[in-house]
Amino acid sequence: MKTRITELFGIEHPIIQGGMHYVAFAELAAAVSNAGGLGIITALTQKSPEDLAREIERCRQMTDKPFGVNVTFLPTVMAPDYPGYIRAIIDGGVRIVETAGRNPQEHLPALKDAGVKVIHKCTSVRHALKAEKIGCDAVSVDGFECGGHPGEDDIPNMILLPRAAEELQIPFVASGGMADARSLVASLALGAEGINMGTRFIATREAPVHEKVKQAILAASELDTRLVMRPLRNTERVLKNAAVERLLEKEATLGKNLQFEDIIEEVAGVYPKVMTEGEVDAGAWSCGMVAGLIHDIPTCKELLDRIMSEAEAIIQARLTGLLAHRKENAI
Ligand SMILES: Cc1cc2nc3c(=O)[nH]c(=O)nc-3n(C[C@H](O)[C@H](O)[C@H](O)COP(=O)(O)O)c2cc1C
Repeated sequence: MKTRITELFGIEHPIIQGGMHYVAFAELAAAVSNAGGLGIITALTQKSPEDLAREIERCRQMTDKPFGVNVTFLPTVMAPDYPGYIRAIIDGGVRIVETAGRNPQEHLPALKDAGVKVIHKCTSVRHALKAEKIGCDAVSVDGFECGGHPGEDDIPNMILLPRAAEELQIPFVASGGMADARSLVASLALGAEGINMGTRFIATREAPVHEKVKQAILAASELDTRLVMRPLRNTERVLKNAAVERLLEKEATLGKNLQFEDIIEEVAGVYPKVMTEGEVDAGAWSCGMVAGLIHDIPTCKELLDRIMSEAEAIIQARLTGLLAHRKENAI
């Protein structure tokens, strides 16, 4: 399938694996890229720019296809060494960057000068337009359904994607709630040029996370996520568990007085415990509503091949079939 996104990134299928803390290591990124999609390594999971440089090199050993690096600009006082991470990306010869979080403007000149294509992930049309204005090549439009940070507007993709299509000139992919061929075809119909998936890629054979995490996603339904940290305007969609229930109780009790320190136990340092050790109840970890559509643990290649062949069947058999009577009438 050829879309503006496959052309922009030089990939076979219009399917991107979004950056995921403690999930998107070289193993997953390489597997997705080898399967014809765009795999992405998460920069900040690497403790330093030097570690990121090594991770990029590891990925290059596993694939000769294009892959990208996610750089998430966090709302923190003590900022990570962003210029160092950007330098590691450029020096490592990576040609694609997924930015997320705050506005990436100050880092764009360095990336653009090095010929890096930038796709910015955002949760609103106004932020997507801003990304277009500052020179991003594409955007990933992340709807309210998404695992991770859906922003504060709560607009689901059925509205957000066609709104983005109305306003944007640059290509965009649909992110949040994407799992299969139906997601891809629907997204194309709504104006997107492909899809970005997070949660679905955790439940793949190559995702280098503990088996208990994959089983937790399989066991979850679309009813099993919760929104946390809304009072801090840092909303995150996570899988419900005992720690999340505790966190929500604190939010309800403390109301407007809630401080980050009050919930530190449930959110800080959780990812290595969950993803590496398999302590799935250790705290709040991102997961999308799309868990309800995830019923197996395929390889990335099986997943992408299935999405592409079923998408073709939906378009050719089901959708074109709906118009068959027109042709018959015309004969
Ligand atoms: C466990 C997990 C960790 C994530 N970590 C990040 C991250 O560090 N940076 C980022 O930009 N997005 C992160 N995301 C968001 C994904 O890249 C993607 O946008 C999102 O999962 C899409 O929604 P979906 O889960 O419904 O597919 C994370 C998502 C999950 C599920």
